[in-house]
Amino acid sequence: MSVIFEQTMINGMAVSNRLVRSATWEAMCDDDGRPTDRLTDLYCDLAQGGVGLIVTGYTFVSPEGKQLHGKMGIHTDGFEDDYRKMTDAVHDAGGKIALQLVHAGGQTDSANAGRQPLAPSAVEVDQFPEVPAEMSKDDINNIIEAFGEAARRAKEWGFDAVQFHGGHGYLITQFLSPLTNQRTDEYGGSVENRSRFAMEVYHKVRDTVGSDFPVMIKLNGADNLEGGLEIDDAVYAATKLSEAGIDAIEVTVGTPASGALGPVRTNIDAPENEAYNMDLARQIREAVSCPVMVVGGFRSPGVAEAAIKDDRVDYIAMSRPFIREPGLGNRWQEGNLATAKCISCNGCFVAGLKEGGIYCVVEKKEQEKKE
Ligand SMILES: Cc1cc2nc3c(=O)[nH]c(=O)nc-3n(C[C@H](O)[C@H](O)[C@H](O)COP(=O)(O)O)c2cc1C
Ligand code: SF4
Repeated sequence: MSVIFEQTMINGMAVSNRLVRSATWEAMCDDDGRPTDRLTDLYCDLAQGGVGLIVTGYTFVSPEGKQLHGKMGIHTDGFEDDYRKMTDAVHDAGGKIALQLVHAGGQTDSANAGRQPLAPSAVEVDQFPEVPAEMSKDDINNIIEAFGEAARRAKEWGFDAVQFHGGHGYLITQFLSPLTNQRTDEYGGSVENRSRFAMEVYHKVRDTVGSDFPVMIKLNGADNLEGGLEIDDAVYAATKLSEAGIDAIEVTVGTPASGALGPVRTNIDAPENEAYNMDLARQIREAVSCPVMVVGGFRSPGVAEAAIKDDRVDYIAMSRPFIREPGLGNRWQEGNLATAKCISCNGCFVAGLKEGGIYCVVEKKEQEKKE
């Protein structure tokens, strides 16, 4: 049996294999962030298709942290029944599900946030033209509190774990990055100060859910932006989180401003173009004692297996391959080891923006041709 299909544990959570569905915005929630049956069905397909751990799409912890339409929200006690239905259905399908918690920070606009966006400093970022308001200490404390409340709801409503989003230019990355964090107080300047917000979010979440509930982070190993977060600072933050007791770190990269070196890359058409965050993951793996997940361009079982065996990462996370083939894990386990069918064109993302929900546009065209 391939190492990919070994059963493992993350702080008491049994994970049936080493394949993680990386967080993926599906654009399938109501305007107020309430999850839908359509989204629950998608997670059940993933559970039945052999994903060891499903991480939900990014879920806003407070209303001004919302970014895109159809995004899930966990900012209110009002969605309890919907979330319990979701987690029950995934468990009945044999799956495990973690909720990804996010605050978009300055990477949103007032139409989605319902107010001027908040960020560590009043620095405009590429593709988000509104200058955000610099967060006061009260804003910082309120958002940390919101992460804690969100984690409380997630645990009470049946999620198996939470993962907070420390990548892709959202609020936690904005604090980590010297480019977007120009504060002169205890949250800005040195790497210790820039990591403070992430650490405080972690401690608030941990204090809320207790020591025996898995708490994870998706962390940028680098922003790939001049003046942005670099690997040494990411290793520092990862080490501090690991020492503090975080249960897993998923290594990612980039922000929407990073262009070809961003988080969701195209042209993954050969094994040598796969696993594009492996170097960063390796450096973080060497520094920490908690399990490490790596995401970004995994398409072939051989590349995934080598990352686990040779580079000693613990989990392989994928997003787009599971959009095209929710049953990819089962396919590989049953011995059909062909590369994932996803051609990394990002058409699914466009469908989410324009058609009210992500789906694989390439697969749909192929099916239509056959009919
Ligand atoms: C449609 C779409 C939505 C995404 N939404 C999220 C998200 O909500 N949270 C997140 O951390 N990453 C998100 N990502 C990034 C993926 O999790 C992943 O890091 C990236 O696509 C690279 O992995 P892949 O090559 O396996 O797709 C999204 C990617 C896509 C294509
Ligand atoms: S549209 Fe389909 S083939 Fe293209 S990136 Fe998305 S899942 Fe992959």
